[in-house]
Amino acid sequence: MKKIITLALLFLSFFAFSQQQTIDQKVEILLKKMTLEEKIGQLNQYTGDNAATGPITINSNKKSEIKKGLIGSMLNIMGTQYTRQYQDLAMQSRLKIPLLFGLDVIHGYKTTFPIPLAEAASWDLTAIELSARIAATEAAASGIHWTFAPMVDISRDPRWGRVMEGAGEDTYLGSKIAYARVKGFQGNFGDVNSVMACVKHFAAYGAAIGGRDYNSVDMSNRMLWETYLPPFKAALDAGAATFMNSFNDLNGIPASANTYLLRDILKGKWNFQGFVVSDWGSIGEMVNHGYVKDNKEAALASITAGSDMDMESNAYRYHLEELVKENKVPVALIDDAVKRILRKKFELGLFDDPYKFCNPEREQKELNNPEHTKAAREIAAKSIVLLKNKRDVLPLSKGLKTIAFIGPMVKSKRDNHGFWAVDVKDVDSTYIVSQWEGLENKVGKRTKILYAKGCGVEDKSKEGFADALLVASQAEVIILSIGENFNKSGEAKSKSNLHLPGVQEDLIKELQKTGKPIVILINAGRPLVIDWIADNMSTIVYTWWLGSEAGNAIADVLFGDYNPSGKLPMSFPRTEGQIPIYYNHFNTGRPAETETSTNYVSAYIDLKNSPKFPFGYGLSYTTFEYSDLKLSQKTIKNSESITVSVNIKNTGSVKGEEVVQLYLRDKVGSVVRPIIELKDFQKISLNRGDTKTIQFTIDNQKLSFYNNALEFGSEPGDFDLMIGSSSADIRLRDSFELVK
Ligand code: NOJ
Repeated sequence: MKKIITLALLFLSFFAFSQQQTIDQKVEILLKKMTLEEKIGQLNQYTGDNAATGPITINSNKKSEIKKGLIGSMLNIMGTQYTRQYQDLAMQSRLKIPLLFGLDVIHGYKTTFPIPLAEAASWDLTAIELSARIAATEAAASGIHWTFAPMVDISRDPRWGRVMEGAGEDTYLGSKIAYARVKGFQGNFGDVNSVMACVKHFAAYGAAIGGRDYNSVDMSNRMLWETYLPPFKAALDAGAATFMNSFNDLNGIPASANTYLLRDILKGKWNFQGFVVSDWGSIGEMVNHGYVKDNKEAALASITAGSDMDMESNAYRYHLEELVKENKVPVALIDDAVKRILRKKFELGLFDDPYKFCNPEREQKELNNPEHTKAAREIAAKSIVLLKNKRDVLPLSKGLKTIAFIGPMVKSKRDNHGFWAVDVKDVDSTYIVSQWEGLENKVGKRTKILYAKGCGVEDKSKEGFADALLVASQAEVIILSIGENFNKSGEAKSKSNLHLPGVQEDLIKELQKTGKPIVILINAGRPLVIDWIADNMSTIVYTWWLGSEAGNAIADVLFGDYNPSGKLPMSFPRTEGQIPIYYNHFNTGRPAETETSTNYVSAYIDLKNSPKFPFGYGLSYTTFEYSDLKLSQKTIKNSESITVSVNIKNTGSVKGEEVVQLYLRDKVGSVVRPIIELKDFQKISLNRGDTKTIQFTIDNQKLSFYNNALEFGSEPGDFDLMIGSSSADIRLRDSFELVK
């Protein structure tokens, strides 16, 4: 049997190899036929005429340029009908090279899923891969070849609006999620229901100074390698076809022309064979950065550094030819970029059938697939984080007679989609279950639901409070849905004030006076500052933005049909002054021993060091007991690994899921090490009363880090091992030693 498998594998790899060779040969043959102008055309990407996801920079007649073979890719064009129209134009060009259609399919296409940060809170890699798979299936059925996702930027700054688009602050969790998302988007690469992934933004965009979008980044290379690059590498290991560079300058060099990032690391050390697209206008913006004097110099710097495709800068289109003629850019450099792009077009099967993704029947079928709706509901429920349930108000009883559902988000529709929802044409783009509808679906005629808006999200007026108090007085329980609007997080949505906007907190205070149980739902695209609410309210559910099935998923959690299992992928600050805040910090020479020590220690004199809610935190309707931590050995050598086992028991009264988290601390290093670092986790499901033994393996990789010479490896010495339910709720501890 083994022999047969080996032979089959050999055959398959030979087959794949010869396929690849054929594609390479086809690319070479085509390249020989291309004029320099046509080659440069392949490196040129414009947005469609009807949609823009950045400042429009081009007013040329794109349609006639496509016919001349001067555009290789379009973004923001979607739907089988519309993409077909554009592909028709490309088929009128001399060499009939198909266009690539790219789009920001970030958290779903027609069916929207939780915003990526919310989905990261599920810590459920299978669910995350599935949502990407479904998004890809719908987008591909709608003519799209390429999504500009996943965004894998680590960020420790909730002021940055784009934290909503990533997986949070942790490199280990972020890398696992990056891998899962790429696998999900790309499926079996080349199938009709797969799209190319584009890993972004390369690199360190999430560390923008002050959390202000597009701002500069300045960090040590060691930090870059240890914290910011691993999710990119994980995405590459998953087979990511393309990368996008970032807007920021990194240590003084804009990412779009950063030879160290693109040539040395990505295409050099990592041997990336796909292509790199610039971010929107980022090549031209190097003039603003003060790195080049004009668009021509920008083109020279970017192509030399390894940016293959120019999104919306017009730099390659208008200057590369001249640069070649002046002998400043060797044709070989252009050929390399063109080949990378053509290879992907061949691999996608577009040369065999440029309309492969343009089947309207498939589009109708996939955009109305009930399985997608079901998955969206399940994944949304998994992304919800129960922050507080002090008086066991949740889950709500199904026997309630009257509920007051109050707040500006109760009937909101668009908000639930989250920032990057695609405005899908020709289909019912408003498909969303509002929170109101979700609750109605859940309780039917059994329970009376009373509604009052109370106030608008950003309102200064308290006029609506009276209504809210009136309906509250008639109900057994109040559910209050508040937060920030969907478009207050996302690109160019950095904020300095993360408190609840408007008079929403005042509304809570008024309702609190009724003495009735209040369930607070907080809707947001980032960790908000909710210090007062956390201290004064007993029941808090963080619902982020959950997508199409938001309302149903929230109702599932409120009534216990789904027992919440989400855990925070970012630390929640007590107030903005603590930012950047992250759990895996260094100890410093003067660590604060307690929350109140201030005497010559590393602390604020007016604020605790700890976050309001820590990384990895989230409650359940049940409880879990951790016991019997065992290590297979207490001393290991580099080549060995330790098996860690631990028993988890569901000690509550209902079935539930727990994310069991394994953290390490390397006690002494040639560079200082974090006080705690996530190195593994498992999400398990347990019936009440049941116990499971779970195992982790600690190998040399998990003990390794980048030293100052940027060498990755472990160093002998003692390690603390911590197993917990969050980074601040360590239930079991042990230690081991790594010896030479
Ligand atoms: C700019 C954003 O930074 C990037 O993430 C996105 O993919 C492009 N615009 C295209 O919309």
